[in-house]
Amino acid sequence: MKDYLSLSVMGKEELAEFISLTGDDTELYNIADKIRRENYDDKVYIRGLIEVSSYCKNNCLYCGIRVGNKNAMRYRLTQDEILSCCKVGYDLGFRTFVMQGGEDNHFTDEFMCGVIYKIKSLYPDCAITLSLGERSYESYRELKNAGADRYLLRHETANDNHYSRLHPEGMNLTDRKKCLFNLKELGYQVGSGFMVGSPYQTWETLAQDLLFLKELKPQMIGIGPFISHKDTPFKNEKSGSLYLTLKLISILRIMFPKSLIPATTALSSISPVGREMGLKAGANVVMPNLSPEDVRAKYNLYDNKAYSGSEAAESLAILKSLVENAGYRVVVDRGDALC
Ligand code: 5AD
Repeated sequence: MKDYLSLSVMGKEELAEFISLTGDDTELYNIADKIRRENYDDKVYIRGLIEVSSYCKNNCLYCGIRVGNKNAMRYRLTQDEILSCCKVGYDLGFRTFVMQGGEDNHFTDEFMCGVIYKIKSLYPDCAITLSLGERSYESYRELKNAGADRYLLRHETANDNHYSRLHPEGMNLTDRKKCLFNLKELGYQVGSGFMVGSPYQTWETLAQDLLFLKELKPQMIGIGPFISHKDTPFKNEKSGSLYLTLKLISILRIMFPKSLIPATTALSSISPVGREMGLKAGANVVMPNLSPEDVRAKYNLYDNKAYSGSEAAESLAILKSLVENAGYRVVVDRGDALC
């Protein structure tokens, strides 16, 4: 047996080499699954994902809702619409609501604080996760004071040069990291992560991603394959691989035994069995879509995004049996991290 546990102490070169090795990863998945069960048993936490706005002021080269995409269908939810998503979600058994959206100036602190406060007073037993991109320290503080518990902000890549090839001028890794450390300082449970197989990614940049996560110590780590979107500059780039994503999920579980790792929508989107395989490789969270049904197709980050069947919150029964068939159990719980 390879010495998988030494992954946590490897440097950049060793990690890069480990990631690059091809071959059967069954043993790696099994070790990750054992570690996941030691920490989280067979529990799978569910989060209700509410995609609050498809407007975005940024122009990230990979993303379908970039401001430069004139074909993107734009919408933003009202407070009442968000609250009805929460009502539906609560009745289904969700105890975490994730409000995710593009960087939309209409979602001011005042608006968001109002929504957060309302959700917390109606559902005090629920956790609120935000995923609204880069904001100021003061803004993050206001949102936290209003009741937000968690924040998801992927670092996307921990290599400066790679970062600048994925993003337009004006966006940089230093600002991104600053936001993440600000969120930690403010007491949020923080989630970060990256795309697997994004253009210009190398074994070395992936190793840097893992080392950056070691430094950040996030509670949650979300990764998924890059999938090209037809209306972006990366339309002809090839998508990330299912197997490399699974391998990285297992590596993450071994390096960060107590973290929350979702089997992401992107993983389900590249393969019909992506989510089950993600769970078996060490993931312990799924985030079904709770957005109003008529907007789901409009929150189009990449082509062929899955948003029906077991990706849809209202089909929770399907998801539950799918999770059970994979050997795990969906629980009604806020699902806070152990770290
Ligand atoms: N493929 C896969 N993931 C994407 N994201 C954005 N665009 C794509 C794409 N084309 C991911 C980014 C972002 C998250 C919300 O979605 O990592 O942080």
